[in-house]
Amino acid sequence: MSEAEGVRALLKSHRSIRRFTDQSISQEIIDDIVECGQWAPTSHNVQAYSVICVRDKIKKQALARLCGNQRYIEECPVFFIFVADFFRHAQLCEANGTPFEVEETENLLVGAVDTALFAENVLLAARSYGLGGVMIGGIRNDAAQVAKLVNLPKWTVPIMGMCLGYPAQEPWQKPRIARAAIYHEDTYQIEQLPQQLQDYDTVSADYYRKRTNGHRTNGWSAGMTSYFGEIRRANLTDFIKSQGFSLK
Ligand SMILES: Cc1cc2nc3c(=O)[nH]c(=O)nc-3n(C[C@H](O)[C@H](O)[C@H](O)COP(=O)(O)O)c2cc1C
Repeated sequence: MSEAEGVRALLKSHRSIRRFTDQSISQEIIDDIVECGQWAPTSHNVQAYSVICVRDKIKKQALARLCGNQRYIEECPVFFIFVADFFRHAQLCEANGTPFEVEETENLLVGAVDTALFAENVLLAARSYGLGGVMIGGIRNDAAQVAKLVNLPKWTVPIMGMCLGYPAQEPWQKPRIARAAIYHEDTYQIEQLPQQLQDYDTVSADYYRKRTNGHRTNGWSAGMTSYFGEIRRANLTDFIKSQGFSLK
């Protein structure tokens, strides 16, 4: 397989891993995958991110609880917390005696996008070492307590966590929506959408039926209507504001 084919095969073989062997991850690998993360593109070169590497059992236990009792956070050898981070920029502007304007929602988006690109690069690099992982949005369930636990300063917001370790499972790949439903040429197309969603429901229901031994029989549409029927993380806005982003 050529190097290019290897890259595409890595991308197309993604699946989230939630069960890990006891094998630890060497510091050399951690250093290398974090460096790979840093080579992600970054808006205006602001590099508005940091990552906290958590190996401490007690901290991981606390984080598992804060993230909604997700046991794999406690079980994985390494848990990363990816943080949108403007602390260093704030320090620079303060030392320079110049205004620090990050009040607009735009800046939080910049930080969240930068952080997500960084995190995905880290995951891909980790997978190239035979590691597996899963991103954890549950880190935003109680962002204030997470911030307290790992001493996050002002101007930082946890965006996602990531469990990493050597896989102890080989889950099926979760089927994605048909490419035609997410790919548009020249203008946004909506005519085929109902049929595309129906087709995806057939495929995804089949996947869930097999993966859950028949416990779940409905498909993606049912999952999404249920997901969007609830308000989520309503207290996150207050935390974000308390960290210095007024979301103007
Ligand atoms: C930002 C983000 C947050 C996520 N948060 C969680 C989480 O808290 N717990 C979890 O088990 N999976 C989480 N996931 C994993 C998704 O559920 C998973 O990627 C999706 O269902 C598709 O499955 P796959 O990754 O195996 O293809 C998250 C994924 C992303 C990108």
